[in-house]
Parts: sequence; C-alpha cells; structure tokens
Amino acid sequence: TAPCDIYASGNTPCIAAHSTTRALYSAYTGALYQVKRGSDNTTISIAPKSKGGSANAAAQDTFCAGTTCLITIVYDQSGRENHLTQAPPGGFKGPESNGYDNLAGAIGAPVTLNGQKVYGVFVSPGTGYRNNKVSGSATGDAAEGMYAVLDGTHYNGACCFDYGNAETNNLDTGNGHMEAIYYGDNTVWGSGAGSGPWIMADLENGLFSGQGAKQNTADPSITYRFVTAIVKGKPGTWAIRGGNGASGTLSTFYSGARPTASGYDPMHKEGAIILGIGGDNSNGAQGTFYEGVMTAGYPSDTTENSVQADIVAAKYATTSLVSGPAYSVGGTVSFKATTPGFTDRYLAHTGATVNTQVISSASSTALKQAATWTIRTGLGNSGCYSFESRDTSGSYIRHYNFGLQVAVNDGSKAFKEDATFCPQSGFTGSGTSLHAWGYPTRWIRHYANIGYIASNGGVHQFDAAASFNNDATWAISTGLS
Ligand code: AHR
Ligand code: AHR
Repeated sequence: TAPCDIYASGNTPCIAAHSTTRALYSAYTGALYQVKRGSDNTTISIAPKSKGGSANAAAQDTFCAGTTCLITIVYDQSGRENHLTQAPPGGFKGPESNGYDNLAGAIGAPVTLNGQKVYGVFVSPGTGYRNNKVSGSATGDAAEGMYAVLDGTHYNGACCFDYGNAETNNLDTGNGHMEAIYYGDNTVWGSGAGSGPWIMADLENGLFSGQGAKQNTADPSITYRFVTAIVKGKPGTWAIRGGNGASGTLSTFYSGARPTASGYDPMHKEGAIILGIGGDNSNGAQGTFYEGVMTAGYPSDTTENSVQADIVAAKYATTSLVSGPAYSVGGTVSFKATTPGFTDRYLAHTGATVNTQVISSASSTALKQAATWTIRTGLGNSGCYSFESRDTSGSYIRHYNFGLQVAVNDGSKAFKEDATFCPQSGFTGSGTSLHAWGYPTRWIRHYANIGYIASNGGVHQFDAAASFNNDATWAISTGLS
C-alpha cells in the first residue's frame, strides 16, 4: 500500500497527491513531475521506475546532462488533474517576468528512497507553485486533511513555506480563507517552543501553533532531517501533528477548537493548492518538499499513523550533494574561466567585489593570492563547500542580491547559507560548475568580468543564456599562491 491507498481505506481519499520522489498510490504508473531544460527549453515527464515505485531520476539526469533543468509541473496522482505549476502574481509579485514566481531547480534536493536516488522540490525564496482550479478540495468549513514530507534543515523566517489550501485569487481575502501546513521559524504571528522551526497552520493572517494566536509551547521545535508534517481541519476542530519522516511515530502537537479571533470558526476555505508560498503569494520563504497530499474528509489519527509507517518504510535518506572533480577540505583552489577569449582569467576579488582577473605565472603574489581560495566544509550545509579568501582569512565568497562578494563571516544563518556552494560536473563536459546551496537554479558565473550567481536565462542581464555554459564552467587547480 501507499499513502493514498491508506487514506482511501480510511474513507478520506486523496483529492491531490504530489511528489517528485515516488508514487503515492501502489498502482500509480503515470507522470510524477515535468522538468524543462535550459539548452533547448524542451520538457520531459518523470514517472516511477515501476508501478507504485520511486521516481526515475536517472531519466532526469540524462535529459539534463550538460545543461540546467527546472521543475515545471508537479503532477497530481489522484486522477483529478490537480497539478501544481508556476505560481502567478497576487498580493505579492514573484521575481520572474509578469510577476510569476521562480520555478525550482531540478537538482537542489537529491535524496534516496530505499537506496534509489530521487529529487525533491527545493524552494528558494521567490519560488512557488499553485493551482487555483482544484477539483474536489475542501471549501468553506468542509473537512480536509493534509500531510507533507519536508527537509527539517531547510527553512527560514520569511512568509511562508506552505503546502495546502489557499485562496483562488492569489490575494489575502481574510481570516480563515486558508488551511495549509507551514514549516519554518517565522515568529510574526505564532510560534512554538524553543527557537523553531515549527510546524504551524497557515489559516490566513496568522500562522497558528495552537488555538491562541501567539506562542503555544506544546508545539515543539522540530528539526529532523526528514519531517512529516500534518494539518487537518473540520467544523469546530483542527489539529497539528508531526514526526520524524525517517523513523518512529507521529505526535499530536495540537488538537482542539478553532482560533477565537474572528473569521476562523467557521472557516472560509477557498480550495486552491499552494506550495512554497503564502496565500497572497508572499514568496520570501524557503524549504524542501518531497511529497504531500490533500484529502477529502478529516483523516483519523489511526489513518495518519499508517501513512507515517508507509513514509518510514519508504526509507528517506541523504545522499551526496556534489559531483565532478573532488574538492579537498583544507586545501586551496583556483577557478580559471573556460569561456573562449577569457581563459587567461581567474575568479578573484578586489576588496569586496568578486571578479575575474588576468593572471599569469609572472603576476604578483598578491594578485595570485587574490585568486586563491581555501576550501572549507560548507558553512550552511556540510555536504557542500565554502571558499575562504586566501588573503583575508575569516572572509568568504558569498552571494548577496545574486552578486558575489568577499565578506567576513558574521555567523548568521543567512551568511552561512549564502557562502555555501555545491560543485557539480562542469556544464561543458569538463571542469566544475557550482550552484549556490540556497539557489540551485543559480550558478557561479562571470559576466562582464564580474562574479554572480546566475540562472540560465532570467530577468537579470547576468542571467543571459548566451555563453551561460562556458561562463559557469571553471577549470580548477590548487591555489595559485
Ligand atoms: O497567514 C500568513 C500569511 O498572511 C498568508 O500566507 C498570507 O496570505 C498573508 O500575508
Ligand atoms: O565575464 C566575461 C563575459 O561577459 C562573459 O563571457 C559574457 O557572458 C559577458 O559578456
């Protein structure tokens, strides 16, 4: 059996089932998700390798070899065609043209299921998916349930990394117009015990950790690498449950009456489905989604406990975040440009600005050191790397507004994440290409001899598709000095 078979036997069938990692019905053989590649803008659908099985990630890897890929559609497996696609603008605009949100990069969240490599949906700030024309979802005060499996190490405090029921017009239409899982450490509305992150319910104009609008200490900080998160609601009652997606059972963090503030009892659910954003397209949050469903009816705890057992049996586990040439922590590295006409240049810095500079064996020691980086374990994720300046110890390459800088490590979570890069085999077939850990769609690139994290085509000049593969591929050697 699989999650949606279990919900069906509990008489609370899935009305939407989304996963890039596996089939959520034991009989499902259809498409799980669609990716689009940068080289020619064509798409491919990724299906389970076998009936009810895990995603054929190898098909994605083959299709995306030597280029970039975006997740364009997360298909609904329920048969209702409640697919998730690029979210449109609403109360807030997204970063893409016409105010659309970004799509997720296809390689940001590799994991294994029973040892088989698959990919989750890595949501960077600005990224979001939505469906405003959902068949069968709960509206008004009708009952529903939902769960999601998330990455408990990937979150932030912005609004709002959500999965669930939201407005159909992308606007904040008032209290009670949403009922979605939230995950992160936002404290603008509610919070739980400790410093977070927490599973909360986004009920619109509030992230709720319990009945009261503010802190409810029965809702614990939950930081497992894989988090199972549950929110459900029916007339007069709702609940938050959660647990470790890789082992053990679920706990109930809240179950009881609706918030007392006006508008939440009865609820005014509208029935759209969002992923990675708030109801009004607030899109500053980050997180990773592996799988989740929405149900008709209020699932019993027993049904959810069986779903949790199925998630644990799927055996989510971590895998390598890097590929290509090896980087050795504690050693030094220099990055030589591979773009024809620029191969005498290395990634260097002048003060805070990261640039490329022409360097030869005759260059000064100071210039060679400006283009030499000490390889450190990734400050924001130990599966990737950070690059400390050879001539300014304690300062690292980081991105800021998508430009690269050399800046002193201030110890903040944002700094550490912005200073973490994940090398892959080079786009051009040799060397290395490095994506920002927090923005898997963005790669270290030189443009007009300045360093950026760039997407392959996008709204910034430095995102230009022309010359992208060359500009984002680097020949590495040990440090120049
Ligand atoms: O409820 C929290 C957020 O408030 C919602 O996600 C958003 O629609 C509004 O800004
Ligand atoms: O960074 C040098 C060049 O500047 C890049 O190759 C090109 O994309 C841009 O014009």
